[in-house]
Amino acid sequence: MKRLAILASGSGSNAEKIMEYFQSSKTVEVALVASNKADAFVLERARKFNVPTFTFSRKEMDAGLLQAKLDEEKIDWVILAGFLLKIPVELTRAFPDRMVNIHPALLPKYGGKGMYGMHVHEAVKAAGEKETGITIHLVNENYDEGRIVFQASTTVEPEDSPEDIAQKIHKLEHEHFPRVIEELVEA
Ligand code: GRF
Repeated sequence: MKRLAILASGSGSNAEKIMEYFQSSKTVEVALVASNKADAFVLERARKFNVPTFTFSRKEMDAGLLQAKLDEEKIDWVILAGFLLKIPVELTRAFPDRMVNIHPALLPKYGGKGMYGMHVHEAVKAAGEKETGITIHLVNENYDEGRIVFQASTTVEPEDSPEDIAQKIHKLEHEHFPRVIEELVEA
């Protein structure tokens, strides 16, 4: 059994899809949902699936507490699903090619500092892009430079608001993220 930890800071709709996908898997188990926000909705979603939860502050993460918890839980893969803090370098080194992030744009476009959540979709809209999409990539110590493992795109219509774009992106994420994780983990 490969043990996954999901790190998320917010709503966790992707986390939910991942938990659902692997619920009765014989090879992959979501063993932990960890968040830096004690009131993040993702924690409620985890309870619904009887997945153990762990919360921590940025300071605690930087001091190695999260890494200690991942060790203790014998986690094999770390999945970042809307996790907003910068991962300490030591933590990325502890999971070489076994840490995965999803980004709501077609990297290298709309990546980097400040490009998260609605900011991404607002920037895509402001630039008049005709398409956008999702990127699933491995995380290494230079966060955005990990290998891209999957991208999928969707059209942006002139009348689409940033919220409409966000919805299209979520749909793509939900459709692909769990399956791409499975392919990576079982490779
Ligand atoms: C997703 O769009 C993901 O790409 C981004 O944060 C969002 C998280 O959404 N990094 P949710 O919490 O899974 O609903």
